[in-house]
Amino acid sequence: MNQSIENLSSRRKFLINTSKLAAVSALAGVAIPHVHAAENNTIQVALIGCGGRGTGAASNALSVKNGPIKLVAMADVFESRLNTSYGSLQKNHAERMDVPEDRRFIGFDGYKKAMDCLKPGDVVIFTTPLAFRWVHFTYAIEKKLNVFMEKPLTADGPSSRRMLTLAEESVKKNLKVGVGLMSRHSRALQQVHQRIQDGAIGDITLMRGYRMAGPLGSAFSEKWPGQPSELLWQIQRFHSFLWASGGCFNDFYIHHIDHCCWMKNAWPVKAHAIGGRHYRGDYVDQNFDSYSVEYTFEDGSKFIMDGRCMVGALPIYSSYAQGTKGNAILAHDGDCGLPSSLHTGMKANRGNAIWTSEVAPDERDPYQNEWNALIDAIRKDKPHNEAKRGVEASIATSMGRMAAHTGQEITWDEMLNCDHEFAPGVDKLTMNSPAFLRSDKDGKYPVPRPGLNKTHEYELNVNA
Ligand SMILES: NC(=O)c1ccc[n+]([C@@H]2O[C@H](COP(=O)([O-])OP(=O)(O)OC[C@H]3O[C@@H](n4cnc5c(N)ncnc54)[C@H](O)[C@@H]3O)[C@@H](O)[C@H]2O)c1
Repeated sequence: MNQSIENLSSRRKFLINTSKLAAVSALAGVAIPHVHAAENNTIQVALIGCGGRGTGAASNALSVKNGPIKLVAMADVFESRLNTSYGSLQKNHAERMDVPEDRRFIGFDGYKKAMDCLKPGDVVIFTTPLAFRWVHFTYAIEKKLNVFMEKPLTADGPSSRRMLTLAEESVKKNLKVGVGLMSRHSRALQQVHQRIQDGAIGDITLMRGYRMAGPLGSAFSEKWPGQPSELLWQIQRFHSFLWASGGCFNDFYIHHIDHCCWMKNAWPVKAHAIGGRHYRGDYVDQNFDSYSVEYTFEDGSKFIMDGRCMVGALPIYSSYAQGTKGNAILAHDGDCGLPSSLHTGMKANRGNAIWTSEVAPDERDPYQNEWNALIDAIRKDKPHNEAKRGVEASIATSMGRMAAHTGQEITWDEMLNCDHEFAPGVDKLTMNSPAFLRSDKDGKYPVPRPGLNKTHEYELNVNA
């Protein structure tokens, strides 16, 4: 069988039109295996953004067991990153790799070339920094490709609005879209979510998320060393720049924000926050080192998200919910580390535990679970589209960040409708394009000034 999704659906129509009713009823109750679009049932995968997570996501894709799958194309803006990723995947998944040199693409237009190697119904992975999500998602929808894209999906109002429209379009086209908010695929968090919905701790009144450790990834940056170009350097150090990632707040804290809101089955209506940079030294990035955001839900209940990047300060990395009848440990450690547990009263310790999650060994990895779910949905044509929810989690996260950076209360609608686009024209970048933010004569970039800049997180065009 060699057919695209359209061919497949016309073939189905043909079958229905020409089959006799008796034949149809003979098939009633028999599970007809879903035929994947690509030839011989193999799902083809392309990887856009071949860094740490991209390599991990491709490895998860190639580890899915329910049918043939292979990586056929890769794209990155740095050849060295692509080569390292290719080498690692080749070492571990050689039998599922088919990426000859002419299907490895370097440059800002590589995403198109990689997606052009796929057929409708195949899967493309987006694991670049978030600034490129809407650009890549637009093309994937045009090509009728299923998508796995990493969190966060947006960092500002204009790209959130654009992505919400694209999410709707992808649903209309019956595309399957997975978003790398893997807490949603943690069996422990699924179990605790179900129990909370069943009333095990009463009504949630307060939740807390903590991600406090030393600086991670590229959160803190010293001056641009002059090469590669300022644009490419900012892309390499994307956690440092709001246009590329939403900064450390969006990139690091979105997981707790997402899964706490999930426990509540709601997104917050507003946020206010405090934050600052205690030890800036020679660093020129746009991040604070400390954030504490108070989110409020429609019913008045609260969620506090504390994030800190500071060596030597108390490290905490876990999340909690307090209800009227008891409390829950959501993520025991890390973004969604198990076990989750339920407790009586207000303390959370072994002595007052009333339930602890139990997860089968082969379902303990939420990164693998999310891929198993996506590929299963593609093969069985089950509804599976996490794009809208992924954008909403990104808006909730940006609200908290903007509240801290401006020193104002920020509502959901204000965040969504904010006109500050961090990376206008990101779809037109070439290797020679100037950076979105230009350093000043001292090599510094504009930073948030809460209370002074009230409507925008940093001064527009300050260095342009
Ligand atoms: N779900 C999770 O737990 C998790 C964990 C890590 C990272 N992530 C997310 O994955 C994304 C990537 O993070 P990472 O840690 O892998 O970063 P990384 O820097 O290791 O990888 C990003 C790659 O994308 C490439 N790239 C950048 N712009 C590109 C473009 N326009 N076209 C093609 N390639 C481009 C870079 O050169 C790099 O190789 C981020 O959004 C991050 O938040 C999620």
